[in-house]
Amino acid sequence: MEQKKLRIEELKKAKNAVIMAHYYVEDEVQDIADYIGDSYYLSDMATKIDADVIVLCGVAFMGESAKVLNPDKKVLLPALDADCPMAHMATVEKIEEIRAQYEDVAVVCYVNSTAELKAASDVCVTSANALKIVKALPNKHIFFIPDQNLAHYIADQLPEKHFIFNDGFCHVHHTVTVEQIMEAKKARPEALVLVHPECKPEVTAMADYIGSTSGIIKFATESDAKQFIVVTEMGVMHELKKRNPDKSFYTAGNMQVCPNMKKITLDKIIDALEQEKPEVIMDASLMEAAHKPMVRMLELSL
Ligand code: 13P
Ligand code: SF4
Repeated sequence: MEQKKLRIEELKKAKNAVIMAHYYVEDEVQDIADYIGDSYYLSDMATKIDADVIVLCGVAFMGESAKVLNPDKKVLLPALDADCPMAHMATVEKIEEIRAQYEDVAVVCYVNSTAELKAASDVCVTSANALKIVKALPNKHIFFIPDQNLAHYIADQLPEKHFIFNDGFCHVHHTVTVEQIMEAKKARPEALVLVHPECKPEVTAMADYIGSTSGIIKFATESDAKQFIVVTEMGVMHELKKRNPDKSFYTAGNMQVCPNMKKITLDKIIDALEQEKPEVIMDASLMEAAHKPMVRMLELSL
């Protein structure tokens, strides 16, 4: 392990590379990252980094987002097959259909989506900024893709908007049940329930806090409570425990694990840096089209 870490350090220096990671990747990958955060943080940081190479330890849409925002940098995705199934759960045809139906519609695209979907949208959002951004849009009609659960969570807080829902979902969060939360609460009655908004509305309704991965970590760290039931992908446990050694964190039912995030390993990072591949390669016109809604997101998040 130590040898692998040393090799990564050596390669980073030689290539002027930085390693960015999402909280859902394996603990040892989180530990070697220069920048770690939620999807919003990773997109925002990618625009501020002064390096020739970005190694994005996350799923494909995260690598594409980094590339779209940094067309001149080399973005490496250590596991090219690490894809988020939800990113494909909407279609450009459906977007066009909705645009033809509603004159004043804003197509709001959760960043967990392909570059093609982003390119066909008006603005991107993440779970950390979706409420702020949708609220600020002048449009009455909102077509929110691809995640139905995040869409419902935002729509419930913005009754002045008319939402058109899409039927995408994250298999890791969508499968959490009310019964699992009830069981977990019965076992730990003192614990606060922290839920990611990709969970179903009946699950978020049971939460003491709802937010992005960074939001959940911040809330638990600042809270006076000592016990928490964590309802998102289990990778966040690493940072939660690191920052809060005196607090206890529990799961609800089975552990929620994103198999794609776990595909990134130290060996694959070494290979990626040595060979400078797999690299995120995108069509120039697609990058340009996806750039606009991503930049609009960054501007509206300020
Ligand atoms: P965050 O933006 O909250 O980190 O979530 C990303 C993700 O993939 C959730 O499943
Ligand atoms: Fe996609 Fe869900 Fe994995 Fe996040 S946890 S990357 S939304 S499959």
